[in-house]
Amino acid sequence: MKKLIRIFAIALVAAVTTHAQLPLNPKVEQKIDSLIAKMTLDEKAGQLSQYSGGMDDNSPESPEKSNYEMMVKEGKVGSFLNVHGVKITHELQRIAVEESRMKIPIIFGLDVIHGYRTVFPIPLAEASSWNPDLVEHDASIAAREASADGIQWTFAPMVDIARDPRWGRIAEGSGEDPYLGSVMAAARVRGFQGENFDQPKNREAFDSATTILACAKHFAAYGAAEGGRDYNTVDISERTLREVYLPPFHAAVKAGAGTLMSSFNEIAGVPSSANRHLMTGILRNEWGFNGFVVSDWTAITELHLHGISADDAQSAALAINAGVDMDMEGSLYLKYLPMLVKEGKISESVVNEAVRRVLRMKFKLGLFDDPYRYGDSKREKAETLSAPFIAAALNAARQSIVLLKNDSNVLPLKKSIKTLAVIGPLANDAYDLLGPWRGLGDSSNVVTALQGIKKAVSQKTKIIYARGCDILGNSKAGFNDALAAAKKSDAVILVVGESAAMSGEASSRSSLDLPGVQEELVKAISETGKPVVLVLMNGRPLSISWEAEHVPAIVESWFLGVQTGNALADVLFGNYNPSGKLPVTFPRTVGQVPIYYDHKNTGRPANDTVKYTSRYIDLPSTPLFPFGYGLSYTKFEYSGLRLNAEKIFPTDSISVSVDVKNAGARDGEEVAQLYIRDEYGSVTRPVEELKGFKKIFLKKGETKTVSFLLTPESLSMLNINMKKVVEPGVFKVFAGTNSVDVKEASFEVVAK
Ligand code: NOJ
Repeated sequence: MKKLIRIFAIALVAAVTTHAQLPLNPKVEQKIDSLIAKMTLDEKAGQLSQYSGGMDDNSPESPEKSNYEMMVKEGKVGSFLNVHGVKITHELQRIAVEESRMKIPIIFGLDVIHGYRTVFPIPLAEASSWNPDLVEHDASIAAREASADGIQWTFAPMVDIARDPRWGRIAEGSGEDPYLGSVMAAARVRGFQGENFDQPKNREAFDSATTILACAKHFAAYGAAEGGRDYNTVDISERTLREVYLPPFHAAVKAGAGTLMSSFNEIAGVPSSANRHLMTGILRNEWGFNGFVVSDWTAITELHLHGISADDAQSAALAINAGVDMDMEGSLYLKYLPMLVKEGKISESVVNEAVRRVLRMKFKLGLFDDPYRYGDSKREKAETLSAPFIAAALNAARQSIVLLKNDSNVLPLKKSIKTLAVIGPLANDAYDLLGPWRGLGDSSNVVTALQGIKKAVSQKTKIIYARGCDILGNSKAGFNDALAAAKKSDAVILVVGESAAMSGEASSRSSLDLPGVQEELVKAISETGKPVVLVLMNGRPLSISWEAEHVPAIVESWFLGVQTGNALADVLFGNYNPSGKLPVTFPRTVGQVPIYYDHKNTGRPANDTVKYTSRYIDLPSTPLFPFGYGLSYTKFEYSGLRLNAEKIFPTDSISVSVDVKNAGARDGEEVAQLYIRDEYGSVTRPVEELKGFKKIFLKKGETKTVSFLLTPESLSMLNINMKKVVEPGVFKVFAGTNSVDVKEASFEVVAK
């Protein structure tokens, strides 16, 4: 009986159709109508076709270039990617708006993922800042630099939840958690597109040409690839899709993202680029998205290899009917859509609708008013890599660093240290620390770790640098110099990790160990007995169990971008008190993967001393470092966790407060985290779910009260019928410095 009451006494949180994006502008829609009425089928297919030009202002005249110019003139190109530069984008635009019959402007896209020329930390690193304002600001700078160079559209943010560090693309996203991922997704969309993109007063166009169109990718569940192998099969339930993988996309759409990209993978037998349920059912009908979807690179062509279409024509039909509006690089839309319409295999209205969505964004970008408004050499010269942008890159890099271990306060090092060894293949590297997808980032603008350290120490300090070994490769020839340097020094900064090419697309690894002979180098240097500070540069969690046990201080710096050296030096010598927190769990070994904090309890929760429980017999059940973890040079103490009610109705909100004290000897920032657990439900719930966080600054000795509001939305779940509801029952509330070290309270949701 109790159960029956429970099931009926639920509160529906949201109706199924939520039109998140703003209503359309009737004036623009009328203009689009009249354009579509005049277009031939070939011209419509042209608008839905995107090509990778691979050109910039310095590209010489070539047959390929002439061919693209001809295609633009013939109305066969709706968009280019990988074309940048004021001259070339304006020249191609001129051909489009003066020489093509319909005079429709082109949209130029590029992967501007974590900066354009001012390269910021990779997204996984920036997620470690737990600072959405910072993330938004950096995206806005990337947009300024890219738009000055003729770019109007970025294939970012990448919002794929990733729980398998073997997957190289984990570097491009915000980690394992749907809530943190959603906050970051929305922040990046706002940063790229500007606050006013979706505001009524600016519905017809962006307010300025310093912002660019965002593209949330890769829709959807690309990060759930089996075995962490890129492009691999995904087979997840509708529930997991909606609870784990879709929330950041929904957040991006709600923040006004103008475009999405369909992913390469299939989900439960249906490749995304042919997935009508996803592209139309969820995205358009449920979420009210009114922008357009671009396929990933030749993803429509690949439908054939997936085994869902017999030939290219069928692939094109499946994709357009699913709701994929633009074909990236595949050429199938251009080739087959007109024929498919003529043969009655697809309806012309489906093509018209896709064209409408593409044109809508071109209007929004203001390209019909002024096709040359993007690309501004003067602004490019004045702004690119300018002092405020570099300052932002430094701020981002500092906040992205996570202090993983600091036994006996080895850190911060004294600036007056007499002799310091700086060792490792990444210690003076200016290339890899820009990470994957570096835009137009250039090593000549990078401050390496060694350069930053040299600037930070006192003039009397002697620095001995030794490379030790390569990132990859088996040679230990450099070990001797490295050991000699260590032995002569008072402390060692050892900078090891991955190459940039080991992360990003098509860069999955089967091992999470330090590559090459680097771990042997770490062991050899540790044996000297000198205090060692290990600095990691990498695009994924690494299995560093030996290091975590034996090296006294470990600093996770990911790939930090152009200001790496300065940011690292600030942390190593105490100018900046580290505040980063892991957005992803670090496993002990690759065999623990997938391991994430918001797992289910199972019927036999892990207990390392009890055999018949859900665990491995050869290692502890806990991760090496949990989600949300990161140390500071000061200590934060949590107390007084309290709620403003013991019982609430399903439609109520409840407020949670906790006192955070800086009990150490330095000022510092802390990310206070709030988790809940819905104890019993009509379906099982995770043991913990992040529902809020706040980054606060506390002077030494200071105490602040941090408050959170848990709304019906944050307490809701998808019930057994996949309806979003708040079910009556007990909720636990956890607040603390990471997902494990928390204070606990509880309250009850009671039926009305
Ligand atoms: C393929 C990648 O999967 C995608 O993320 C990227 O935006 C496109 N290529 C364009 O470069």
